[in-house]
Parts: sequence; structure tokens; C-alpha cells
Amino acid sequence: MPHKPTVSASVLAADLADLRGECRAVLTAGADWLHIDVMDGHFVPNISYGAPVLKCLHRALPDAFYDVHLMITDPLRYLPDFAAAGADLVTFHYEALPDAAAVRAAIAAVHAAGCKAGLSVKPATPAAAALPFVPELDLVLVMSVEPGFGGQAFMPAALDKLAALRDACRAHGVWLEVDGGVDAVTGPQCAAAGADVLVTGSALFKAPDPAALLAALHR
Ligand code: DX5
Ligand code: ZN
Repeated sequence: MPHKPTVSASVLAADLADLRGECRAVLTAGADWLHIDVMDGHFVPNISYGAPVLKCLHRALPDAFYDVHLMITDPLRYLPDFAAAGADLVTFHYEALPDAAAVRAAIAAVHAAGCKAGLSVKPATPAAAALPFVPELDLVLVMSVEPGFGGQAFMPAALDKLAALRDACRAHGVWLEVDGGVDAVTGPQCAAAGADVLVTGSALFKAPDPAALLAALHR
């Protein structure tokens, strides 16, 4: 059954001096979720923002769905802060954890904190790495750029990875999300390959007509 993709707006590309206004505008234009990219300058070579920013944004826009993408070395250390700040979904990186037992423990900790749990794989990590965890997850995130920066070109190899994960995710009612370089051209390719959730940052916040782009991604 074909269904409408969910669009998660990556606020990294917003004017951060007016985060509330920018988020309100993309939600009004039709974005479904807000994607919050947390970078620690260690797991990735860039620093963005943390739980205090999420807390203020959640207070300003309490009805939005907060899709929090932790690109940090020690996700469990900061999980309570993000849960308390209003995260609905917390996605951490497979590569940040030492082994399968640690991944399972992290999924359980996210659920115990009252959030939905996502697991993300970087471009060099095969789809097979995420597959064993699908039954325990709410979402799998396929990175279609090297995490760390917005505005990069989409890596087409992500399409094969989405296709490899699609059936397992569908079978378990798990969302399949793609992040990086998603625009009016690559978004529909990702949806055709099996993505349920499209993260879009630069393409959306720089779009002359954000509502038109969101309508195109929803088709
Ligand atoms: C990359 C981030 C992405 C990024 C998406 O590290 O995880 O969410 O901000 O931005 P665009 O759509 O500009 O590639
Ligand atoms: Zn992201």
C-alpha cells in the first residue's frame, strides 16, 4: 500500500537566530516533524546545539514532533537531558557503540526514558549491521551523507541500503528514515526505495516556495 512519506525538517539549515519563527514557518508549510541534529565536535567534526536549545524550542512549539539525531560519542550520557527537554524520538549512531549488547542496552534505555528509539548507520556501515536490531527499534536512519554538515550532495548508494532494509522495517512496523541531500529530485527516489521519513534541511530552508517542495516530497 503506497503511503505518504513523513517529512522531517532539519533545523540545522534554519536561521538559528529565529529558530521559533523558522520552525513555525516550515510546520505551517506542511513539514511533519522537526529534525534536531546534535553534534559534539568528537563523533563528528562539528558542533551544533544540545538539550537546552531543544528545551526552549519545545516550550515555544509544544505540539511539534521532535526527531532528535544524536551524532555524539556518548549518547547514553546525555539521553536523560534530551528526554526531559522534549524529544519524542531519539536516534543514536551504531558506530558510537562498541558492540551489539551496547546497542541493545541503548535501545532499552531510550524506551525507558519514554522516547521512541532510532538507530542510524553512516554511509560506510552496511545495512546488515542494523538488521538484527530492527525488531526492537521504532526507526532506522540511513545516512545519505557523511554526518557532520548540512548542504552536502546525496550519496546514491543510500538507495540500495534503503532497499535492503525496507522489508524488515515494514514487517516490524519500523520507520525507515533517510538523511542528507534530500531534495525534490532525491526525495522521491528515496521514497521509491522504501523510505518512510525524509529529512530535508538546506533544500527546504532555502526553497523559494517551501510549501511546494513539501507537497512534492509528500507525493
Ligand atoms: C548531517 C545531518 C543532516 C543534515 C541534513 O550531519 O544529520 O540532518 O542537516 O541537511 P541537508 O538536507 O542540508 O543535507
Ligand atoms: Zn540528521
